[in-house]
Amino acid sequence: TYTIAEPCVDVLDKACIEECPVDCIYEGNRMLYIQPDECVDCGACEPVCPVEAIFYEDDVPDEWSEYVTANIDFFNEVGSPGGAAKTGKIDYDHPFIKALPPMNT
Ligand code: F3S
Ligand code: F3S
Repeated sequence: TYTIAEPCVDVLDKACIEECPVDCIYEGNRMLYIQPDECVDCGACEPVCPVEAIFYEDDVPDEWSEYVTANIDFFNEVGSPGGAAKTGKIDYDHPFIKALPPMNT
């Protein structure tokens, strides 16, 4: 799967959403998260993020490895909704993300 890392926090550009053919990029309060079971690894989202927050999971820089876990764990709460458009913004963040100081501002 692909994953979203620290540069997205408090930025939420959302250019990625428009590119995803399966609509599996979900909006939380402070960042967006990719649903690992719904992502088909097409890679279309990765080049459009203006802050380069999106990585193939094996390519996430080591210092951001917690974001891989956070993206996966987010959906232990949220499940597999089968499409972000109908879900809309989710009033939740992974606890690790929620606890971060203001970022990227
Ligand atoms: Fe975030 Fe980049 Fe998407 S900032 S919302 S991952 S385009
Ligand atoms: Fe969508 Fe990006 Fe996966 S465009 S299918 S989240 S690689």
